[in-house]
Amino acid sequence: MKYYIGVDLGTSAVKLLLMNQDGKVENIVSKEYPLYFPHSGWSEQSPEDWWKQSKEGIKELTSKIDRSQVAGISFGGQMHGLVILDENDQVIRPAILWNDGRTAKQTDYLNQVIGKEKLSEYTANIAFAGFTAPKVLWVKEEEPENFAKISKVLLPKDYVAYMLTGVHCSDYSDASGMLLMDVKNKCWSKEMLTICGLRENQMPRLYESYEIVGNLKADVAEELGLSEKCIVAAGAGDNAAAAVGTGTVGDGQCNVSLGTSGTIFISSKDFGVDPHNALHAFAHADGHYHLMGCMLSAASCNKWWMDEIIKTNEYAEEQKEIDKLGENKVFFLPYLMGERSPHNNPDARGTFIGMSMDTGRADMTQAVLEGVAFAIRDSFEVAKSLGINIERTKICGGGAKSPLWRKIIANVLNIKVDRIASEEGPALGGAMLAAVADKTFASVEEAAEKIVEIIETVEPDEELAGKYDEKYKKFVKIYPCVKELYTELL
Ligand code: XUL
Repeated sequence: MKYYIGVDLGTSAVKLLLMNQDGKVENIVSKEYPLYFPHSGWSEQSPEDWWKQSKEGIKELTSKIDRSQVAGISFGGQMHGLVILDENDQVIRPAILWNDGRTAKQTDYLNQVIGKEKLSEYTANIAFAGFTAPKVLWVKEEEPENFAKISKVLLPKDYVAYMLTGVHCSDYSDASGMLLMDVKNKCWSKEMLTICGLRENQMPRLYESYEIVGNLKADVAEELGLSEKCIVAAGAGDNAAAAVGTGTVGDGQCNVSLGTSGTIFISSKDFGVDPHNALHAFAHADGHYHLMGCMLSAASCNKWWMDEIIKTNEYAEEQKEIDKLGENKVFFLPYLMGERSPHNNPDARGTFIGMSMDTGRADMTQAVLEGVAFAIRDSFEVAKSLGINIERTKICGGGAKSPLWRKIIANVLNIKVDRIASEEGPALGGAMLAAVADKTFASVEEAAEKIVEIIETVEPDEELAGKYDEKYKKFVKIYPCVKELYTELL
């Protein structure tokens, strides 16, 4: 029996999944690492922690099988993070992550001075604070001594792929989020590299997500107890990998991910751009394309509320108290790390509004869950305005484990929500990409057809969806009223 490992290099932890050649999930392991917020709105991690915990995770994941039968490894990785290596392939500074908001000035420069039209022409996207190109400009301006040392620019999962194989590689789906790639033509944008002061030889080689980039280095294979023949496939950004893991491939499929970030992902056979660039136009891991809206704090809002504020880890117990869906007077704007889609505002912050003396703890918890659903609807509305008709969606990520949250999402979006046997979208997608690279499946579509299983569908309720529609109309009025204040309050 052959095995494949999917590595989901997340923001709170690396999740590793072992899948056999029939697509059965045999084991899942999670290894945490720290996240650093050196200033308000900044977010960093140490690439060395990713590597250490990935290795530990692989060892634990494979402890009960014949390790020589592990045939392939691939990834879903947190997107947009800037990893810079020097000429000896040493990490120059901590990675600046996807939810870091320090680049407001560089983002404005790109959007206003270079101009959104030019950016969209070069890359199919505009600048958002979390994207990689503004981070490169930030290092250039704020840390010129580090900028001068850059020999390679990598994304988070690509650093782990490099440590496994010695190859500097990336894949089209993840590289789409750098604002350095011409998404339509799947190559580095010469114009964007020049704007950021980079040369093409500082960039990794680009692959399809299901292509082999190399084999394990001998010393790494020995340390992990795996075979040197074990292949490593390029893998994908976590959202594209999650889409693979939920069967969101081919044309017109939708996936909602409730992880640290919240995303709505729409797969498409053809390349297409949102004319207003509110949704990202990226390459997909199945060889085609997708549109995506990304909110920066989704399940992390609930985690913050539970862990930091009301100080409990009884998530299910807390949600049991919620019985007035569609009636809540309290609203929550979930912008704890600023917001990406659709506001593109790193200064935005979390906001509760509408409390009165009879507001209870359950109303506040409910507002947090609903606020995230409303913010996902913001991107859903953009997709609808482009004429995209979405009747149902898959759902994955930690937040998808909550039956109440799935029900809220189904009714706020007023579409059917399909739950998949495995919530580990990116890790399963990663393992599937490794299996496709190893030719166990002929294509990503075939792997999805054979492996992904829908185990439950949440249908929206007409009355509740109507109530949520009214609530959403109120929700969208709040942000414009407080928008200016956010910057003043910083
Ligand atoms: C997508 C994005 C996030 C991260 C989370 O654009 O920034 O979903 O990939 O890991």
